[in-house]
Amino acid sequence: MENRTLRVFKTMSYREKPNSEELAFGRTFTDHMFVMDYSDAEGWHDAKIVPYEPLKIDPAAMVFHYGQSVFEGLKAYLNPQGEPLLFRPRKNIARLNRSNERLCIPTLDEDFLLHALKQLIYIEKEWIPKADGTSLYIRPMIISTEPFLGVAPSKEYKLVIILSPVGAYYKEGINPIKIAVENDFVRAVRGGTGEAKTGGNYASSLKAQEVAGKEGYSQVLWLDGVEKRYIEEVGSMNVFFKIGDEVVTPELNGSILSGITRSSVIQLLKHWGISVRESKITIDELYQEYQKGNVEEVFGSGTAAVISPIGQLDWNDHKMFFNNGQTGKLSKELYETLTGIQYGRLNDPFNWIEKV
Ligand code: COI
Repeated sequence: MENRTLRVFKTMSYREKPNSEELAFGRTFTDHMFVMDYSDAEGWHDAKIVPYEPLKIDPAAMVFHYGQSVFEGLKAYLNPQGEPLLFRPRKNIARLNRSNERLCIPTLDEDFLLHALKQLIYIEKEWIPKADGTSLYIRPMIISTEPFLGVAPSKEYKLVIILSPVGAYYKEGINPIKIAVENDFVRAVRGGTGEAKTGGNYASSLKAQEVAGKEGYSQVLWLDGVEKRYIEEVGSMNVFFKIGDEVVTPELNGSILSGITRSSVIQLLKHWGISVRESKITIDELYQEYQKGNVEEVFGSGTAAVISPIGQLDWNDHKMFFNNGQTGKLSKELYETLTGIQYGRLNDPFNWIEKV
């Protein structure tokens, strides 16, 4: 039986707040965190907001050995009146539960988790940075904590939510980044865990990213894990191509992360009367369209990345340059509109915003 009591153990603010003009991504953390435990006997229980501190976990905890864990990423923003806002938080919580299902982790009461998250944000609202383009990144994660070396779903878990004041994810900010198509490694396969937000997907992406990084690329563009032909995602963001009058994005197929910014971009584009095609698209097809001069803009979308224009995409020796390496008109409009809604500066016709 779940216990839905939330206890709060508040401390004086004791951590130094970073200068919000100089914020990087994910390096500083706030004064408090939310924790909740799971055991088969008690279900999810002992929910509390406590001072931020290291976790004490048994080295035999299953997460350290077999990686049974999931996470989420969302943000809190300050509106012009100084009130904290959340962007579509129920979508993140629902996705957390879908990742839980995939990783055999017990699902959570979504209303209770949203309530706890709002409490945490309310307590930490002074940590939401004010400079342009900054926000408070919210990182919920669940790890398997049962001390056991057998390969099986754990019988114990810990959920933790930490908060981090952040600036742009890429050092380029809203300026276009350079990406390489990954030919050797694969991120996810059909039927695998690609759609789940689980650490293993990100661990397996590191090698390719390291190799590409040494060659001056920000990230790699992943192709499907079977034929290595179909475009999937960038790993920290979903990807969109403006080809002629149409915007094309890879359809969700089980190995691509179902991005909440992705679905918001699709909804916005359709609202603007722009045709959006969610379908398979091969790298070869993209290159052919590029050669015909039809690929006008390429951009990625994600919570951390927001809208990140891609100025150059290299596929082996084929180099594709988009929009003269400048931020395209559509990317800019999407960025302005999304962030305008997120920061409460623009109307919210889709009811995406939740006040804390
Ligand atoms: C996010 O956009 O929130 C993500 O989770 C991507 C990331 C791994 C930084």
